[in-house]
Amino acid sequence: MALQDYGTALVTGASSGIGAATVRLLAGRGLTVHAVARRAERLAELTEHGAVIPHALDMRDRAALYELFGGLEVDILVNSAGVGSQFDPFHELDPDKIDATLDTNVAGTVHAARALSPGMVARARGHIVNIGSIFGLHAISTAVYGASKAAVHRLSQDLRHDLKGTGIRVTEVSPGRAATEIFATMTDDTAAQGAMVDGFEIITADDVAEAVVWALDQPWRVNVSLIELTATEQIPGGVTIHPVPGRS
Ligand SMILES: NC(=O)c1ccc[n+]([C@@H]2O[C@H](COP(=O)([O-])OP(=O)(O)OC[C@H]3O[C@@H](n4cnc5c(N)ncnc54)[C@H](OP(=O)(O)O)[C@@H]3O)[C@@H](O)[C@H]2O)c1
Repeated sequence: MALQDYGTALVTGASSGIGAATVRLLAGRGLTVHAVARRAERLAELTEHGAVIPHALDMRDRAALYELFGGLEVDILVNSAGVGSQFDPFHELDPDKIDATLDTNVAGTVHAARALSPGMVARARGHIVNIGSIFGLHAISTAVYGASKAAVHRLSQDLRHDLKGTGIRVTEVSPGRAATEIFATMTDDTAAQGAMVDGFEIITADDVAEAVVWALDQPWRVNVSLIELTATEQIPGGVTIHPVPGRS
C-alpha cells in the first residue's frame, strides 16, 4: 500500500515543525489532509498547499477529540503533537508541565490512534505513524519527556501486536534534535533556545517529514517499524562525569 493507495491523512501537531512539514508533503502528493492543532490561524496557512482541512483542537480534550476524529474517514494518522520540558531540572519541574507533557505526548497519541483505528480496521486500510524521539530510545536526560517518548516507543511496538491481522501498518519515527519551534515553547531564554540549534548542522522538520513519507510510501508488504534519525554531528548518549558538591 504505497502512498498513492491512500486517500486521506490526519496529522496532529500540524501548526508547526514536523507536523506542518508532513502536511505540506502529503498535500503535495495529492492526499486530503486533516490538520489538527490548537492555533487555528497557523493551520489556515496550510490550506494553500493543497486539500488541507484545518481543525482547531486541544489534544488533551478527550471528548472533543473523539467527537471530531470519530466522524472522519482517515487512512493515515501521523501523531506529531508534542511538548517538551528539557530546560527544567526534574526536582524543580512544575507539576502542571508534567501533566501537559504526559497528557499531550502519551494520552493524546493513544486516544488519536484509538479513535481512528476502528475505521481503519473496518476498511482494512490504515497506517499509524507516531513521532517519538531519541529520548524514548536512549537515556539522555529529561525524565518526564523521556518517559513520555518511551511510552510512544512501546505503544508503537505493541500496536503491531494488537492490530495484527487487520492490515494496519504502524511506524515510529524518532528524531534527534530538529530545528523547530519546540525549544521556544519550553523557555523564554533565547540564548538557551539558540544553544539547542546552533553550532552544528541540525536536521530540519522537512528531513523528518521525508522519513515519514518514505515509510508511508513502501509497498504494503513492508512495515517500517522504527526510524531513528539524528544530525550526523549529534550522537545520543555518552558518558560524562558530574562531581557532587561535598562528595568529591
Ligand atoms: N524538534 C525536536 O528536536 C524533536 C526531537 C524529537 C522529537 N520531537 C517530537 O516531534 C513532535 C513535533 O514537534 P516539533 O519539533 O515539530 O515541535 P513544534 O514545532 O513545537 O510542534 C509541536 C506541535 O504540537 C502541537 N501541540 C502541542 N500541544 C498541543 C495540544 N495540547 N493540542 C494540540 N496540539 C498541540 C503544536 O500546535 P499548537 O501549539 O498550535 O497546538 C505544534 O503544532 C513532538 O512530538 C516532539 O516531541 C521533536
